[in-house]
Amino acid sequence: MTDLHRPPTEAQPKRACMNRRDFLVLGGASVTVLATFGTDAFAQQLVSSSYARKVVGNVSDLEQGVAIAFNYPDDEIENILVMLNEEAGAGVGEARNIVAFNTVCPHMGGYMDASVFKPKHSVLGPCPLHLSTFDLTKHGMVVSGHSTASLPQISLELDGDDIVATGVMGLFYGFNRNPSGA
Ligand code: FES
Repeated sequence: MTDLHRPPTEAQPKRACMNRRDFLVLGGASVTVLATFGTDAFAQQLVSSSYARKVVGNVSDLEQGVAIAFNYPDDEIENILVMLNEEAGAGVGEARNIVAFNTVCPHMGGYMDASVFKPKHSVLGPCPLHLSTFDLTKHGMVVSGHSTASLPQISLELDGDDIVATGVMGLFYGFNRNPSGA
């Protein structure tokens, strides 16, 4: 038996290893600290940007599982609005299932649109370039593919039947800071 295979003795205390659970807890705490305090005001801006409120649809017009396109915060930026079949993070409406996302892949700018929305699994994708797919119930988190960033999620509020966009969580692809809006 080699030294590597012998159990540690009193004279040889266990090595200070970090198990998987501790690693995940510590990693999560680090991310929270960075997200909360950041390094400067710009870091905060990457997390969330506010824009002028804009009505982007009506609840009564939405059909569950059917995505529709809209532009926000200016006419150049395309997004989809959809009523999912299940509750979603930051979803609005009675079932908290109405969400909106930008459709440009955060990896290298692959263009996705409503045609690649998969209602059965509430995902957008695959991206035509490197096949990234994004979970619309979990703030656009990557499910598979090359992207390491989530899809920017458009913040929504309801005003009666109106669905109102108020900002974006995340950074639009191609910008080093989000555009100032229309
Ligand atoms: S550009 Fe979409 S996965 Fe690479």
